[in-house]
Amino acid sequence: MCGIVGYVGSGQALPVLLDGMARLEYRGYDSAGVAVISGDAVTVVRKAGHLEELTKELAVMEVLGSTGIGHTRWATHGAPTDGNAHPHRDCSGKIAVVHNGIIENHDVLRARLIREGHSFSSDTDTEVVAHLIESIIEEESCSLISAVTKAVHVLEGAFALVCIRTEEPGCIIVARQVSPLIAGTAEGMGLVASGIPALLAYTRDIVSLEDNQIGEIRAGSVRLFDFEGDEIPVSTVRVEWNLEAAEKGGYEDFMLKEIFEQPQALRDTMRGHFDRQGRVKLDDVHWKPGVLERIDKIVVVACGTSYHSGMMAKHSIEHWTRIPVELDLASEFRYRDPVLDDRSLVIGIAQSGETADTLAAIRFAKEMGATVIAVTNVVGSSITRHADAVIFTHAGPEIGVAATKTFLAQLVALNTLALYLAQERGSMSRDKMTETIDAMNALPEQVKEVLAIQGDVRRAAKRYAGAADVLFIGRGVGMTVAMEGALKLKEITYIHAEGYAAGELKHGAIALIEPGVPVVAIVTGQKLYDKMLANVEEVRARGADTIMVAPRGDERARALANELFEVPSTKPLLTPVLDTVALQLFAYFVAKEKGLSPDKPRNLAKSVTVE
Ligand code: AGP
Repeated sequence: MCGIVGYVGSGQALPVLLDGMARLEYRGYDSAGVAVISGDAVTVVRKAGHLEELTKELAVMEVLGSTGIGHTRWATHGAPTDGNAHPHRDCSGKIAVVHNGIIENHDVLRARLIREGHSFSSDTDTEVVAHLIESIIEEESCSLISAVTKAVHVLEGAFALVCIRTEEPGCIIVARQVSPLIAGTAEGMGLVASGIPALLAYTRDIVSLEDNQIGEIRAGSVRLFDFEGDEIPVSTVRVEWNLEAAEKGGYEDFMLKEIFEQPQALRDTMRGHFDRQGRVKLDDVHWKPGVLERIDKIVVVACGTSYHSGMMAKHSIEHWTRIPVELDLASEFRYRDPVLDDRSLVIGIAQSGETADTLAAIRFAKEMGATVIAVTNVVGSSITRHADAVIFTHAGPEIGVAATKTFLAQLVALNTLALYLAQERGSMSRDKMTETIDAMNALPEQVKEVLAIQGDVRRAAKRYAGAADVLFIGRGVGMTVAMEGALKLKEITYIHAEGYAAGELKHGAIALIEPGVPVVAIVTGQKLYDKMLANVEEVRARGADTIMVAPRGDERARALANELFEVPSTKPLLTPVLDTVALQLFAYFVAKEKGLSPDKPRNLAKSVTVE
């Protein structure tokens, strides 16, 4: 989700680059940099921190040139430092590259290039691309576009690449595989970017590269080629959005955009973890020797929505590995005098990586001798420095205060960890492992099917937006969904909502039920289905309206529903990934019905850095 800009034309590149980067900074903001061809050299200036840090640096220097590229980074590999900021160069310093995505085989390529004599200056996957292009040009004495066309057949993973070379001023070569890339021309210039906002000030006629396409951008010209080097026709799309709409990708709010980004967030988070032999890989997680064999207890600590993904993780880890799992609110954990030692594995979950309660909890766990693994969405965040190992979600920047895509990414990241532990401990059959991995790989498309029922959800939201109280009930992992659905509704609509174990209703909460009280029931988990329907009957008998989240085509659920959200079927332990999406949409549409701002709910912050 990085911000990429490229300019080539008759004017100075730098002002156009900085303007475009500023308009894309919401996509990634942990470091920034530019590369401009000045004479027979490429001037590169990079700074960790927000774009303003780079702008300050540039204000006291002269960077002239009419071919340049710029990048605001959302780190995926390598902490956000000056040295890891893009652009990255080859050994000669004459090739500069910026990149958005993940090069999955970067470590193999880096080792090969080092053996060939290349020296690296960063920890990023991107720098590999610059040296790979250099080695191809050296071997074949070819042009930049020929080298890029060859390089894309070697690279694995997701990439939007933008490259320049001092020997070829006036030309920018780009390549797209998965990560978005657009281009355009205006008076005497050629432009390329990772997002529409960067181009709108110059042109509304946009060329969107498709997957497996190469682009050659020159002043007034965009040419496209396939990965075999054959030229393909260029078509443009007229974009009428204003700038604000463009930043939100045409969605009304960042929260809705991020809900709809969830299929890609799942793909990017799972990318590279399941190999072709059906094995689970956690290559970036370096376990201390003997830890995996020694673990006899796992403790999950987190807050808010991250605590809810921990609830689901408890079910998956215990079911697949038979290791007992305790689950603690981070703010309570260290005060209950927990039993921890060097056989304990503590999993700290924090999308921001900065939550004070969670940081304090894992620091305490380490003092007690436990091994700590963090699950976070932010490379270089504080939690990555306190943990022994990190599993990153790759959901991209989440601007909405309410966690949505980071939550779903946590679910698949935690299930990947659980499967890995099961694989390493031999506690799960190959067949079951394969079935589960197949079901996980199907989730991104299934999330799209849930997004497609937004009409049903919006209708229910209009119907119940005036409710004073809403109860969410579920069983097993359905509790995860009930708790998360209630939190979403609370935090962006200010309606009192409560997630409750359906089996617990009769022990008190059912007293809250009176005619018209909406009860959201999650009935997708097959094992507890009959019990869940019985609980639905209980509340309906007392006058409740029931909003059911149920498998598609479930006529028994339909018969009991005032509103029905039908979702695709998946493995029981994976149902929270699909069920939650319906409830995220429900909360969002209720907020809109009430005229509230889902992106900036009152009293809340995106990252709670105080205890
Ligand atoms: C989620 O929608 C809330 N905004 C909040 O509960 C959040 O999940 C919590 O503060 C934890 O944040 P973290 O994942 O960054 O630790």
